Amino acid sequence: MTKTDPQLEKSPTSSRTFTRREMLKTAGVGGIGVLIGASGFGGLLSITENKASGSKPDNIIPFYGKHQSGITTKPQDHIYFAALDVTATDKTALIQLFKDWTKAAALMTEGKPVGELSSNGLLPPKDTGEAAGLSPSQLTITFGVGPSLFVKDGVDRFGLKGKQPKELVDLPKFPLDALQEEWSGGDLCIQACADDPQVVFHAVRNLIRIARGKAILRWAQPGFQRTKQADPKERTPRNLFGFKDGTVNPDVNNEKVMNEQVWVQPGDGPNWLAGGSYLVVRRIQMFIEVWDRTHLQEQENTFGRYRDNGAPLGQKNEFDSPDFSQKNKNGEYVIPADSHMRVAHGDGTQQILRRGYSYSNGMDGKTGNFDAGLLFICFQRKPSNQFIPIQQRLAKMDKLNEYISHRGSAIFACLPGTKPGGFIGETLFT
Ligand code: HEM
Repeated sequence: MTKTDPQLEKSPTSSRTFTRREMLKTAGVGGIGVLIGASGFGGLLSITENKASGSKPDNIIPFYGKHQSGITTKPQDHIYFAALDVTATDKTALIQLFKDWTKAAALMTEGKPVGELSSNGLLPPKDTGEAAGLSPSQLTITFGVGPSLFVKDGVDRFGLKGKQPKELVDLPKFPLDALQEEWSGGDLCIQACADDPQVVFHAVRNLIRIARGKAILRWAQPGFQRTKQADPKERTPRNLFGFKDGTVNPDVNNEKVMNEQVWVQPGDGPNWLAGGSYLVVRRIQMFIEVWDRTHLQEQENTFGRYRDNGAPLGQKNEFDSPDFSQKNKNGEYVIPADSHMRVAHGDGTQQILRRGYSYSNGMDGKTGNFDAGLLFICFQRKPSNQFIPIQQRLAKMDKLNEYISHRGSAIFACLPGTKPGGFIGETLFT
């Protein structure tokens, strides 16, 4: 599991680390801009060393580790998800991209800029600057590779074909799919999550900037949930239909369960992915105007839970076990046979780690309706045993289908983590 609020001096990336806030403070007294003009990634550290305030950074989630962060990390308040297409034509450029991304991501997750904040005036600053002075905000950056990185239109662009895992293939078409090209696919993905929307945007923006000439944005979607400020008790967040969403999920603190359900294990497929995980993302539009005209009982029957406290129908509290056999006077299941919760649960053998966020993208065309919904994201060890069968059941008989439409879809293999000095993707490329 990830750890928050570590001591500065324990940072794995340098002997001394500085948050963006400290950088700014230091710059104020010491004229940092002049000093660091040509420093590049992280080169400013030694210069500021003696002038740092020594205060402890908060809100840091370590970037380096056996697994990438942002998977079993407790969901932060905001996400910015981006899918990219690689434009580079040789493997060396691709490797360089991952090396540069690793360095930049490690810096940003510690609240540091990816290069100088202000330059000598003759060059654009390396860091775009909008996160200057902001705390790291628990930023995590998670990188993944899609099936098309291995073979695209029949072409093995980077000599990686032989390394493509059997599980890393385009998802099958599910009944009712209304997928749009503009929200689907991608050679690579970046998932940035943090407790601040500007920090997540800054992270993705700078990574895209670094990728210039090597990869371009294919589609992107920001997302949110209630903030910790709005709910200091951090109860289960509610989705845009007003229901608690995220109640039933495998326990991220249980290593055995994570190894069974989330982390790819040695022997599962090509070894380069051991310690990684498969990410499935679905951009699901929710017809909130229709939902808002639906009576409460119908809403509750749709999910199989009470809206108020999130308890399974027939039970009292959110985390009570559902009784799927319980029937009412008419002989019908109290948790209806087509309710989302019941159909998703199935016989309970398939599990996924759900880590989705709400999105709202203004208006849907000229319909006068919102384009709003769920950026559904889940992690798993083997999609063919987990997301795919669950979604096959849901697409066939989930009552929720009356109120939603799947508009975007992609699958990525999230690479294993790396150590300081290494880079994300090293197991795949070397
Ligand atoms: C807009 C679309 C969706 C909405 C609004 C939604 C909402 C919910 C809600 C409110 C619950 C009950 C509370 C909880 O346990 O979190 C739930 C449970 C669940 N959902 Fe969804 N969901 C959506 C799509 C999906 C999709 C696409 C999948 C996977 C293919 C999925 C899989 C699950 C699973 C596995 C559970 C837990 C079932 C159990 O109790 O064992 N959901 N969802």
